[in-house]
Amino acid sequence: MVTGSAALCGDAAAQQATLGRITVTDSLAAAVAEVDSIPYERTFSGAEAMPNAPPGTLATARKEPKVMLHVDSVSKSFAGLKALQDVSLRVMEGQTVGLIGPNGSGKSTLFDIISGFQRANAGAVTFQGSPIHRQPPNGIADLGLIRTFQLSEGGQRMTALENLLASAQNQVEANLLEAVLRLRRLLNVERENLSRAKEVLKLLGLIHVANEYVGNLSGGQRKLMDLGRILMAKPKMSLLDEPTAGVNPSLINLIIDALKIMQHDEGITLLIVEHNMQVVSEICEQVYVLDAGVLIAQGSPEMIQSDERVLTSYLGGGRAVNE
Ligand SMILES: Nc1ncnc2c1ncn2[C@@H]1O[C@H](COP(=O)(O)OP(=O)(O)OP(=O)(O)O)[C@@H](O)[C@H]1O
Ligand SMILES: [Mg+2]
Repeated sequence: MVTGSAALCGDAAAQQATLGRITVTDSLAAAVAEVDSIPYERTFSGAEAMPNAPPGTLATARKEPKVMLHVDSVSKSFAGLKALQDVSLRVMEGQTVGLIGPNGSGKSTLFDIISGFQRANAGAVTFQGSPIHRQPPNGIADLGLIRTFQLSEGGQRMTALENLLASAQNQVEANLLEAVLRLRRLLNVERENLSRAKEVLKLLGLIHVANEYVGNLSGGQRKLMDLGRILMAKPKMSLLDEPTAGVNPSLINLIIDALKIMQHDEGITLLIVEHNMQVVSEICEQVYVLDAGVLIAQGSPEMIQSDERVLTSYLGGGRAVNE
């Protein structure tokens, strides 16, 4: 099994090293001192690019936690059924947050509202400080907020490899003239994407089905493909609706590896609906618990698992999976 960043994302690791660390040689130091004497407002892109930078680097020294996603008093009813009632939550930049609760408690409905597939009856959703609750799904995706669905879909008539290539973040669109003029660059991008797509397939244990149509893959393999598309698209934030649903339990560690790469190597902020408490405990810093459309608890995975209300409504006898 492939684990760790080097195997998956050599380019990303190199990019992070470039953005995160500054090596100053003597001649460069003089030039930097000269530039530093000019008054200007400093911005450090490294802080944006490295939410998980090791302590002591420039990125962490100057980084202040920012709210990435804010769900503010959202309510939603379906013909009298109160699916969500006054739900509020925050996800900070770089954080991984879990959303758990019994079947029908409103988790997917909340994802639908955040990602623009449903409109809330009341409340607001902001992403990086901008309201998104009146935006269409593609507008929200363009801002860098991408979701997966509880039942995987998409790309059924493409092969697994083609499907990942179509999700690549750095695709270059060009007409024929541009293509001829920028051939070398296009070829390099294509080559990079192809190599990354193959690494992602290896990481997810899907390399042997690279040339299979996605429509022919098993439910579990299609869930793994969802994660592959996120790894190719590298959004700022992703909402994952039950990433382990229907996946053979022997593959859970592989999914945890993929989620850790999203968190630590790609710096993707995550909000995850998940019934498997092993996954929640291993990767989530914060957990919100919904019950019948109402938030009943919030805290670390440890706190949640000893909360009386959560034990009664969900963990005690619900669908939660405790490996
Ligand atoms: N489009 C819809 N029309 C009518 N009722 C809906 C619709 N979508 C969801 N619901 C209802 O809203 C409630 C919340 O459903 P939701 O799918 O959000 O739950 P969930 O927490 O994701 O459950 P699960 O764990 O089973 O996926 C349920 O009672 C469901 O039947
Ligand atoms: Mg659901």
